[in-house]
Amino acid sequence: MKKYYIFASLLLGISSLSHAQQPVRESKGFYQFLTDDPNQKPFYSDRQGVMAQQGMVASAHPESSRVGTAILKKGGNAVDAAVAVQFALAVVHPSAGNIGGGGFMVFRAADGKSYTLDFREKAPLKGSKDMYLDAQGNVIPRLSTLGHLASGVPGSVAGMAAAHARFGKLPWADLLQPAIDLAQKGVIQTDREARGLNAIKESTQQVNPGTTYFLRSDGRAWQEGDTLVQKDLAKVLRAIQKKGREGFYAGRVARQLAKEMKKNKGIISKKDLKEYQAKWREPIIGDYKNYKIITMPPTSSGGVALMQLLRLTEPYPLTRWGWNTDSTAQVMIEAERRVYADRAKFLGDPDFVDVPVDKLISYDYLKERWQDFSFDQATDSKAVSGGNLPGYESLETTHFSIVDKDRNAVAITTTLNGGYGSKVIVKGGGFFMNNEMDDFSVKAGVPNMFGLIGNKANEIAPSKRMLSSMTPTIVEKDGQLYMVVGTPGGSTIITAVYQTILNVLEHGMTMQQSVNALKFHHQWLPDKTVFETGAFTENTINKLQNRGYILEQQRNTMGRMDCILVLPNGTLEGASDPRGDDTSVGY
Ligand code: DON
Repeated sequence: MKKYYIFASLLLGISSLSHAQQPVRESKGFYQFLTDDPNQKPFYSDRQGVMAQQGMVASAHPESSRVGTAILKKGGNAVDAAVAVQFALAVVHPSAGNIGGGGFMVFRAADGKSYTLDFREKAPLKGSKDMYLDAQGNVIPRLSTLGHLASGVPGSVAGMAAAHARFGKLPWADLLQPAIDLAQKGVIQTDREARGLNAIKESTQQVNPGTTYFLRSDGRAWQEGDTLVQKDLAKVLRAIQKKGREGFYAGRVARQLAKEMKKNKGIISKKDLKEYQAKWREPIIGDYKNYKIITMPPTSSGGVALMQLLRLTEPYPLTRWGWNTDSTAQVMIEAERRVYADRAKFLGDPDFVDVPVDKLISYDYLKERWQDFSFDQATDSKAVSGGNLPGYESLETTHFSIVDKDRNAVAITTTLNGGYGSKVIVKGGGFFMNNEMDDFSVKAGVPNMFGLIGNKANEIAPSKRMLSSMTPTIVEKDGQLYMVVGTPGGSTIITAVYQTILNVLEHGMTMQQSVNALKFHHQWLPDKTVFETGAFTENTINKLQNRGYILEQQRNTMGRMDCILVLPNGTLEGASDPRGDDTSVGY
């Protein structure tokens, strides 16, 4: 902890600093550092946390963070800023920011009360259990990931409207205006955003014959510095500005969306849109040592899994063993193996299946789960046929964290699922639709795009929500707000959030160091541990391999965390992931 205080005190007095102003080292030097460090000391990158006294927004793009901070400065609270950031992300980060997708919000009010909002997509009313299978009962490739049938009924606009109606302070119209301006005047493309659009050129053309503003009219590739203007999206946002949720789920936009679907064998109808409701749910609140974890209940698996992971490893002296040493990694991997097996078996939409949340996170149950664990040898996942882990190519969900001057805190993770979702662009609406249907278990035991398998609990039914791994989470210490965390990453979201929390709580890292730190991941099936280059030393790799662990090195792109920590003197540390364009802006 000593280092942490020295580091923090060095930065005190700096009231506003954005990553955009800071040099960020190229990833090679940045990540190489740890590989050469035989002692496994906490990792320090050149990126430092952004310190501010009043409020902080950490999100995936500098523009969306600026939008959020401007709302806070105007007197808006964290929920107001969240609404503005969600809509701004739909414009500046269209691969994941969305109005055609869904997500989850964890909100801790300044008075200490906590709330969670489920605005996850739903299966359309015409959806059915076997809708992605052929006559022989085999999964039809890509049907649940590309094109119109892949989309669930979007929830983001309903979610923002519900959050604002309950907790917002500023007028709704003010929260939409920044996004409208960005869509109307255009967004300067970062290198990463330009590359993202170039990468989907063919699939976008395949799904949307004709012209779209996401492809350049002069036929050349997008480059850093180009401006993307989205006039159709601006119109949709104006309708939402004027009519609230009805601007999306009824009227012109709903007609456009339903028409888009009908013309292309999609099944989302006007009725689906009309009936969609976001849902307030009881948060999962659990103790971990002297901290309180406030996290998302099902329809996300994230909260249950996170609580299980923390509690499974709570009895072990991780601090003494050290960060990513063989013993620390081993108990974490074994916990992950058991937790993802539970996820596949028990978790699904609680409106449709009985999810035994309390039992799953109870100490008695978790103790039982450890019965077959031994330090000598890796437990066997009894892999019948391993799924494929994601290639970590596209981290296309997005998370943002916000804390305001009164210490209201919001954690939102939102997504289209894959990058740019189903690639369907609603004609006349100019926004991407999700491919979230792939998060259902389209056939029992068959892995989805993240290699996750599921069973009955997560099979498709009309109006049912598909299981998620998104894990927006808030941590309390001594009854006070302490940390706001979350990330994209498909199945790796849960383990990245788990590690990010442990890095601060057990390994004495600052928020930013924890975000920068290299991560690893195991998800039961396939039975292997993937890790970012440099996350383990050669020595640790050898020890783990000798105990039967299969290790696989991945490119350095696990997670795009956007987190905030409240320091002991009340200063906010915004920590945005150097793996993306992510930026914290405070004031
Ligand atoms: O809800 C989920 O768990 C997934 N749809 C999240 C997808 C995701 O994080 C994609 N980015 N890597």
